[in-house]
Amino acid sequence: MIAGGNYEVVGHGNAVSNFSTVVFPQYVGNCTVCHQGAPQSAAWENNPSRRACGSCHDNVNFATGLNHVNLPEPDDTECAQCHVPKGENEFDASITGAHVNPMFSAQLPGTTYKLISATGAAGKSPTVVFSITDSKGNIIKPSSMSSLSLVLSGPTLDYGAAQSGTSAYISETATAAVASGSNWTYTFTNKIPATATGTYAIGIEGYVNITINPGTVISQVVRDSGSPQVIYFSVDGSTVVPRRTVVTEANCNTCHYVLNAHGGFRRNVAYCVLCHNPNQTDAPTRPAADLPAETVHFKELIHKVHNSANLVSTYTIYGFGGSVNNFNAILFPGNTQDCIKCHAAGTMDVPLPNGVLNTQTAREWITPTTQPITAACTACHDDLATSQHALTNTSPVLGESCSVCHATGAAYDVNTVHIP
Ligand code: HEC
Ligand code: HEC
Ligand code: HEC
Ligand code: HEC
Ligand code: HEC
Ligand code: HEC
Ligand code: HEC
Ligand code: HEC
Repeated sequence: MIAGGNYEVVGHGNAVSNFSTVVFPQYVGNCTVCHQGAPQSAAWENNPSRRACGSCHDNVNFATGLNHVNLPEPDDTECAQCHVPKGENEFDASITGAHVNPMFSAQLPGTTYKLISATGAAGKSPTVVFSITDSKGNIIKPSSMSSLSLVLSGPTLDYGAAQSGTSAYISETATAAVASGSNWTYTFTNKIPATATGTYAIGIEGYVNITINPGTVISQVVRDSGSPQVIYFSVDGSTVVPRRTVVTEANCNTCHYVLNAHGGFRRNVAYCVLCHNPNQTDAPTRPAADLPAETVHFKELIHKVHNSANLVSTYTIYGFGGSVNNFNAILFPGNTQDCIKCHAAGTMDVPLPNGVLNTQTAREWITPTTQPITAACTACHDDLATSQHALTNTSPVLGESCSVCHATGAAYDVNTVHIP
């Protein structure tokens, strides 16, 4: 529903189901996400009616013409004359044109990043070489980007060591990168920590603001962004070891179409984890009066957001510009016990790889930090008893013993206790 009207159905046993707060996890104009593969699956674009179109456009009054260019439509006989399946232009009154997602408008030139090389050593500033092109292969200058940043994080064993102020990663604006052939070179002002070892990662993100439908009443500014990229490099001469892959955006996108966050331009999970690491919280944006800060470690954030319906505690993140984002009312269209909806095979098994970090959990039962397996489980199982159970099974000297009972093949194997 576009105007957010009320939609309530009285069901079996007079149970009242209100559907007014359900949020579709992608752009609603993606009609073909649902309308495909069925015998009459083209009816969505051939058969417009007051009932079908008005179900989303609940601010239109077809009897009076209100919000319908003052054009009353007493019946459905004329709709298809004006609302043809596809017209000549994007954003026209045709059914396909009207529902183009601005983010994927054909008017956008496109932005493709390539990270060509990255070099750096402990205690030194890393240097990165990259290219940016539009979809025709034309070179885009960094200085012409509305936003261009390079993000340093490491080590890949578990991100979280690169510190700058309250952020457990380093982000620098790279619009001043200098030409090197048809590529660009940027050297960070910040340094890799002096004690760093192993593999570090650099990600690139940015966008160009493009005005689509210029000179018309429906002109709007869209971020032409492309997908951020990540490159891995050794800081001590050791073999480069990329970050482990736990979830894939292909899995996320079975629901999200194109996962996007922070205003649309961050899209891939290998990139999210650079910042959403064990030591990252919302401290940069949380008002002092509301401290301590909340964790945004990726497993905590994504587990909590999607298991929202079962949580007993609140989960609120202060975001960009101090925006308050509470994630307690999100409905998951599936069963969170179906771990492989998000996970790559076997990646939710315990134990976890050696050396993964504790999570900063000042707002949870176990403070100030929670051990790695416990943090993953208690992000969903957030009741006090489960934290007591987990802490009881954690040795102050040797760490978590969870795998004794919850490992693959053990009595309470993570894969067998969860029955979706
Ligand atoms: C979340 C799934 C979903 C999305 C997204 C969706 N629809 Fe539908 N739509 C349905 C269902 C379900 C029906 C009823 C199908 C039936 O009666 O067999 C329907 C029916 C229709 C019909 C009536 C077809 C007929 O012949 O009765 C039209 C027209 C229509 N949709 C247009 C659209 C348009 C335009 C969009 C995109 C802006 C859209 N729909 C997006 C699920 C969806
Ligand atoms: C599944 C929900 C859904 C259905 C069904 C749907 N629309 Fe839309 N429509 C949208 C959304 C979302 C927009 C984007 C603009 C907005 O947010 O108002 C939009 C935009 C439009 C626009 C551009 C004007 C505007 O308000 O921005 C027209 C015209 C339009 N729709 C016509 C139709 C017609 C005709 C049908 C029936 C065939 C239809 N829509 C069915 C969701 C829907
Ligand atoms: C004479 C042409 C004409 C006819 C007939 C017509 N429409 Fe429209 N309709 C328009 C125009 C023009 C717009 C505005 C397009 C825009 O904003 O891009 C519009 C807009 C809409 C919108 C989007 C409203 C919004 O939220 O801005 C919907 C939904 C819609 N029409 C449905 C219908 C349905 C259903 C019928 C038949 C009952 C119908 N129209 C008949 C011309 C027509
Ligand atoms: C089974 C469907 C499904 C899968 C799979 C899924 N999500 Fe979601 N997700 C949702 C729904 C539904 C919402 C709530 C939509 C809303 O409130 O905007 C949501 C909300 C979110 C949000 C909250 C912010 C927002 O957009 O409102 C983030 C972030 C998110 N998902 C990331 C992910 C990531 C990352 C993955 C994969 C690791 C994933 N999701 C997998 C359905 C899913
Ligand atoms: C450059 C660092 C960075 C990257 C990359 C990043 N985030 Fe964030 N994100 C943060 C920080 C820091 C916060 C905590 C709030 C704040 O301080 O802005 C946050 C908060 C959030 C929030 C909660 C607040 C809000 O605004 O909704 C969501 C949801 C989120 N991120 C999702 C994602 C997803 C999904 C990705 C990858 C597609 C991603 N982020 C990539 C740094 C990042
Ligand atoms: C909605 C998506 C989603 C679902 C469903 C989900 N997870 Fe996760 N899980 C994540 C994300 C995202 C991460 C962090 C990924 C990363 O760090 O690369 C994660 C991380 C983990 C980790 C830590 C893995 C590591 O190597 O650090 C464990 C353990 C885990 N999940 C267990 C589970 C279990 C058990 C289930 C099912 C009962 C489950 N998850 C369901 C998204 C999900
Ligand atoms: C994405 C959310 C999610 C994650 C992550 C998750 N679980 Fe669960 N788990 C559930 C849900 C939902 C249930 C069924 C309802 C319940 O018991 O809370 C469940 C049930 C269980 C059960 C069965 C107990 C019972 O009362 O039915 C066990 C044991 C369990 N989980 C252990 C774990 C362990 C160990 C981990 C960490 C490795 C974990 N879970 C991670 C969501 C999750
Ligand atoms: C000695 C065996 C044992 C060890 C060690 C153990 N657990 Fe459990 N755990 C259990 C049993 C038994 C249950 C209850 C299973 C059931 O109800 O199906 C359980 C249940 C759970 C649940 C689900 C709680 C609920 O909502 O019902 C979680 C989460 C969990 N354990 C996490 C952990 C974590 C994290 C560790 C390590 C720090 C750990 N466990 C160590 C035996 C163990």
